[in-house]
Amino acid sequence: MMEEENYDGYGHVKQLNADTTKEELVQLYSAWSKTYDKDVHDLAYLGPAVAADQLSKKLKEFGYKSDVSILDLGCGTGLVGEELHNHGFQNIHGLDLSQELLNVAQEKGIYRSLQQGLMGSDGCKDLGVPANQYDAVICVGVFTSGHVKGKGLDDVVHVVKPGGLASFGVNETVADDPEYGYHKKMNQLSAEGRWKLISKIHEPQYFKEGSAWFYIYQIV
Ligand SMILES: C[S@@+](CC[C@H](N)C(=O)[O-])C[C@H]1O[C@@H](n2cnc3c(N)ncnc32)[C@H](O)[C@@H]1O
Repeated sequence: MMEEENYDGYGHVKQLNADTTKEELVQLYSAWSKTYDKDVHDLAYLGPAVAADQLSKKLKEFGYKSDVSILDLGCGTGLVGEELHNHGFQNIHGLDLSQELLNVAQEKGIYRSLQQGLMGSDGCKDLGVPANQYDAVICVGVFTSGHVKGKGLDDVVHVVKPGGLASFGVNETVADDPEYGYHKKMNQLSAEGRWKLISKIHEPQYFKEGSAWFYIYQIV
């Protein structure tokens, strides 16, 4: 499907559920690619700013400099990259399922590299990123209804070097939903000694109609 001028992307996102397929998501975001930034701005979407701000603070606390390598998983049109860039970071990379959204991100000239990849596959095999590549990862707006389930947290851990940081948000509507399995996966990764919790923050104004939890973990 080509992008549409008056496409009601948010209206479609609200219809997604645990059975939504990746093909449906690709179709939705292709159609929404050109108007996504304006629409989420109108929805007062604060996710990218909140997560980038928290990660920026922690990276500085942990002694990283502005050349720290950061992978933005599910980067979409690049709103998170823009926020990280505003914090002075220069070594930002992006990955997304949708080529149309990657094209929009590319036009912003912020990312050092952009690639298509799929989160949530067995053994991270469809992500297309070797293990332990980045100092940090950030993932916003992806752990939400109809998008990526708890299994996608394996990808978050996979891409980061030991000692590095992972920052991600989980939309409150599905945060405790066993079908998505976020808590189970987070607890499993902690029990296996793969990561440890650094911070957990509730953001009531994630966007004007919803709230989210924001986590930072250190990869072990
Ligand atoms: C709500 S948008 C968030 C985009 C961006 N992070 C932001 O905050 O504006 C969700 C993004 O997740 C991407 N996505 C959904 N499922 C994915 C998957 N399995 N693997 C990679 N990206 C995925 C979509 O293509 C879309 O760009």
